[in-house]
Amino acid sequence: MSTADLDSSDHELVAIYRDAASDLVAIVAVHDRALGPAIGGCRMLPYATLEHALTDVLRLSRGMTYKCAIAGIPYGGGKAVIIGDPLTAKNPALLHAFGDFVESLGGRYITSFDSGTTLDDIRVIGERTQYSAGYADGYGNASASTAIGVFHCMARAWREVGGTDLRGVRVGIQGLGNVGARLAGLLGEAGAVLTVADTDPARDAQLFGAVVAADEILSADIDILAPCALGAILNERSIPTIRARVIAGGANNQLAANEDADLLRASGILYCPDYLTNAGGIVELHHQRMGSTPEALAAHLATLADTLGEVIVTAAQCGKSTAAVADHMAEARFHGARG
Ligand code: NAI
Repeated sequence: MSTADLDSSDHELVAIYRDAASDLVAIVAVHDRALGPAIGGCRMLPYATLEHALTDVLRLSRGMTYKCAIAGIPYGGGKAVIIGDPLTAKNPALLHAFGDFVESLGGRYITSFDSGTTLDDIRVIGERTQYSAGYADGYGNASASTAIGVFHCMARAWREVGGTDLRGVRVGIQGLGNVGARLAGLLGEAGAVLTVADTDPARDAQLFGAVVAADEILSADIDILAPCALGAILNERSIPTIRARVIAGGANNQLAANEDADLLRASGILYCPDYLTNAGGIVELHHQRMGSTPEALAAHLATLADTLGEVIVTAAQCGKSTAAVADHMAEARFHGARG
């Protein structure tokens, strides 16, 4: 067993852990703890190289710092990756070794689920570390809170472009997984008219709305686009084809490049910054750890839309993109906490 701390310019801690007995190779990155211990999910993917894994974990942990700050929860940004195929390489010994790794960091990083790991996996990891979150008694899958946060932000943004409620509004959802399917349910209850796409035929997309091919959803004739699958889908090629007036979805890292936020603004498309819009899941983890009431969680989720409102108003006043204003607001919070 070995743990090695690596230097990284804007991260507090990067640690690589190898456990020969279980074949675990994992990396934890802690970006910033000015607001509290670092929290963020653990991804398990068959990364081609250690460098790919490192690049991913550094980028994702940084994003978590911004997400926690903008969501108003007392945590910093962290993330973990396990290098391996979750379908073939995952087993209790490997998850326990990962739990030992997290425990050895002494609470600097709190783990949870992400791509390639499930709530059940985090329960197994939690047999070896007190620093795991997401499976508290009385709570379900935190993706439900992510979907609720997206729904609140979408409704807020729609009012901003002159709409009232979401009844009859045409919403396109890309991806019908944990977040997208739950969002579709909420939108259905609100009377929205759904167009959906998912690359996985097992998702039974037709149960949720009118189905279009995966490569057609971005340019569909809709009012609101909800990206709930992949990152980097908003780019210089896709943006000129988008007909929606609002973009509000659960996917992380929707913008391929920072400049794409300016392109959206110039195109008259109101972009709801992804890490604010999809912060509901991490907000729920905070409330799970606090043992809060469902009412307190619901009230906090609703504040995401208030923060979005502030971002939209400030962006209009300053002539900046909503993404730039959200970054500035988040940075002011975690830089400010350092004193
Ligand atoms: P998921 O894996 O459950 O669902 C993703 C869905 O997108 C799958 O059904 C997949 O088949 C589909 N998909 C993949 N490529 C597609 C394409 N090109 N076109 C259409 N559909 C496609 O993932 P989950 O948990 O719903 O997360 C979705 C996004 O939201 C990810 O970017 C994730 O990082 C982000 N996110 C999720 C949170 C959560 O609470 N689950 C919290 C914050 C962010």
